[in-house]
Amino acid sequence: MNRKNLFTSPVLLLLLTVSLFGDYKEGERLFASQCSSCHSGYIPERQLKENFFKAKNRLLNLKAPTVNMLVYGIMRGPKKIGDPEDPEMRRIEIEEFLREYLEHPEERQTLLSPEINRYFDTTHPLIRLDDDALANLAQYLMHYSGDRHGRTKPLKRHYDGSFDLKRLQAEAKRSGKILIVEASSPTCHYCKKMDREVLSDPEIRRMLRKDFILAEVNVRTTRLPRKLAKAYQHITPSFFFLSPGGELLSSYPGSWTQSDFASILRENLRKASRD
Ligand code: HEC
Repeated sequence: MNRKNLFTSPVLLLLLTVSLFGDYKEGERLFASQCSSCHSGYIPERQLKENFFKAKNRLLNLKAPTVNMLVYGIMRGPKKIGDPEDPEMRRIEIEEFLREYLEHPEERQTLLSPEINRYFDTTHPLIRLDDDALANLAQYLMHYSGDRHGRTKPLKRHYDGSFDLKRLQAEAKRSGKILIVEASSPTCHYCKKMDREVLSDPEIRRMLRKDFILAEVNVRTTRLPRKLAKAYQHITPSFFFLSPGGELLSSYPGSWTQSDFASILRENLRKASRD
């Protein structure tokens, strides 16, 4: 192989890109498994503005910035990281920013405005990632294109302090979807485990997006509606399924594996279609 061929060989170029610059797909997967339980997917800017500036976060009930808000903060906002004219250096600075932020959450600096950040929890989990993982994550955030996938709604809504079942029920009815209410709490280990291992699964996500609305309620701060409180056995997580018509189809105390949860979803689709 002469020199020209070597450097234009697509295979070699791909290998170089992967090892030096991180891998977008890997970064996307990592984000889905380790970050997306709090940082939800793409939401259009117009909806975000309405949510934060008009509705005091009661519209979307976000518990952390969405992925496109993170991307905005890092790439375009007033406190963006690095110099857009120098992408090479910038990538390294973004990796370093992420490392600092995730390993020293108590010292973190925010890239977003205080008006928005005040709606979020003020603690961040400590997350240690190795160099490859950080490179992949930086690659993903720098070249983020989630908006093209049309994921316009977060997978899960979070309710902390108040829970408007009527409003969700109306939405479920309009869209013919089954409402799942998850009783959860910030200290519930198995809730987080399910977020990480089950709700990050692409098949589960696809099913949820298609036929369900998933609402997580912090039962430490938020009273469950009477209909659900009666069935609640004080175990977190617990999942309550309500038909589009508002009938309580079933409830499942405890945490579930990917395959059990997929069966539960299917079972309730069957029940709702008989409803
Ligand atoms: C348990 C929930 C949770 C998880 C998991 C989580 N985050 Fe966060 N993250 C938050 C919250 C809440 C905030 C807002 C913190 C604040 O306002 O001080 C935040 C803020 C951030 C910010 C800064 C946004 C700003 O204000 O400038 C970055 C960057 C970030 N997270 C990256 C990540 C990455 C990358 C992962 C996965 C490896 C991750 N987070 C996992 C909850 C979480």
